[in-house]
Amino acid sequence: MTYTENVFCIGLFISGVLTDSSERPLITTMPNKINVLSDSCVQIPCAFEILNTFSNDFNKSTNISGVWLKGGMNFATNPSIVIFNSSKTDSKFQWQIIGDLFQKNCTTVFYNVKNSYTDKYFFRIDTNGPFYATDIYMQVQIVVHDVPPIPTMTDSVEVKEGTLVSLNCSVVAPCPEHPPKLTWTLPTKSTPEEQLQENSDQTKSVVSMVTFTPSYLHNEKNIICTAVYPVGTSYKTGEINRTLHVLFSPKDTSASISPSVPVSVGSCVNLTCSSTANPPVTNYTWFRISEGKPTQVSSRQNYTLNVTVEDGGLYYCEAANDVGLGKSQEVLLPIKGQDQPVSPLVYGIVGRTSIIILIMILIAFFGWKRKSRFPDQLERTDNPLEQE
Ligand SMILES: *[C@@H]1O[C@H](CO)[C@@H](O)[C@H](O)[C@H]1NC(C)=O
Ligand SMILES: *[C@@H]1O[C@H](CO)[C@@H](O)[C@H](O)[C@H]1NC(C)=O
Ligand SMILES: *[C@@H]1O[C@H](CO)[C@@H](O)[C@H](O)[C@H]1NC(C)=O
Ligand SMILES: *[C@@H]1O[C@H](CO)[C@@H](O)[C@H](O)[C@H]1NC(C)=O
Ligand SMILES: *[C@@H]1O[C@H](CO)[C@@H](O)[C@H](O)[C@H]1NC(C)=O
Ligand SMILES: *[C@@H]1O[C@H](CO)[C@@H](O)[C@H](O)[C@H]1NC(C)=O
Ligand SMILES: *[C@@H]1O[C@H](CO)[C@@H](O)[C@H](O)[C@H]1NC(C)=O
Repeated sequence: MTYTENVFCIGLFISGVLTDSSERPLITTMPNKINVLSDSCVQIPCAFEILNTFSNDFNKSTNISGVWLKGGMNFATNPSIVIFNSSKTDSKFQWQIIGDLFQKNCTTVFYNVKNSYTDKYFFRIDTNGPFYATDIYMQVQIVVHDVPPIPTMTDSVEVKEGTLVSLNCSVVAPCPEHPPKLTWTLPTKSTPEEQLQENSDQTKSVVSMVTFTPSYLHNEKNIICTAVYPVGTSYKTGEINRTLHVLFSPKDTSASISPSVPVSVGSCVNLTCSSTANPPVTNYTWFRISEGKPTQVSSRQNYTLNVTVEDGGLYYCEAANDVGLGKSQEVLLPIKGQDQPVSPLVYGIVGRTSIIILIMILIAFFGWKRKSRFPDQLERTDNPLEQE
């Protein structure tokens, strides 16, 4: 027995003797654990060093065998654990050492992975010279799964309207020859940029980045990142879901008056301001336009007033949150018996005035509603063919 094999046996059977890792004849570097998808492949990043005392023996070798041991190290009593020997072609499993052993690169690919491959694996070097050793201190745990891994994405997606947001989605690529493809479901168009990245343990991951500018209409919309793994002739998918939270200034701010018919002096009128905003509206402000200038009259969402002769005229409201401000259209508070800016034709005919004002308010109100509900498209349906 050579010295190398003695060291190996001592390390194996009298634990604690070889506590100084600098005495290890073979020192391999590989990940502790790799999660693998069944029917796919796994690439095990692997490198090794030879203790200086033996580097001459190693350098003089003309033939180096890379050996993988499954589940244990003692192949002398259990030869079936030698599941791969790069010098032999009758391996139990489909393996290939794609690294150059002479460059001390033992990177190995394990094809067509089955669930039974879940185990710990040790690496061993055999030469045609006196050097041979198993690294008993390093093992890689291979765990085979039928269900593909779930990609990872930023936990919370909260962004202010109109600002650029960048999202990364990443997922492991244990078989870099057939990496997963990442696809996005986004509320708005964006072109993802995908790349294969190396992790700190030399395993690979696919990372996809998208950038887009959300509007308030995208608030509470879903963002999905899907990993599509090629498996044999088919594929398997895993996905992650996030909700997009868009912070936006008050939108669709509107003012309404109840009752909407002309009221008599001394009766009660409610002015109500409504709006949607995220975060919710913190401040409402009511203004009355007097002599062409707005004057603040209330800082409540509902402004109730006991009508006096001076109260008739145009009102509007503002809604504010931390992000910004929304302003409503102007609404008219009509008072019975008062001159109304919209009723010159029926001046003096009190009974009819109120009816016509009501109709005009309704027309104005619904006209505005239509406009605000159908922006642009409906008004701009000019068909160039029809015009000819
Ligand atoms: C053995 O080869 C390595 C490079 O592979 C070199 O760094 C080292 O010096 C060599 N050792 C001897 C004794 O030639
Ligand atoms: C691997 O194969 C080589 C060449 O046949 C042989 O010398 C060596 O002993 C084998 N290693 C193991 C652990 O079976
Ligand atoms: C080992 O070999 C693999 C496959 O050729 C290669 O991708 C990797 O970069 C090599 N590692 C080192 C440390 O050179
Ligand atoms: C997304 O990934 C790219 C490239 O890997 C990196 O430069 C960027 O900082 C990452 N962005 C975020 C938001 O994590
Ligand atoms: C409005 O104010 C007048 C005078 O202050 C009062 O007489 C009347 O009852 C009030 N009307 C309502 C509905 O509160
Ligand atoms: C105005 O609002 C108050 C409570 O907010 C309600 O009691 C009253 O009936 C409302 N008046 C009208 C005319 O809508
Ligand atoms: C809301 O009103 C309070 C008190 O008037 C003021 O301090 C605050 O700045 C206002 N907030 C916004 C967002 O306008």
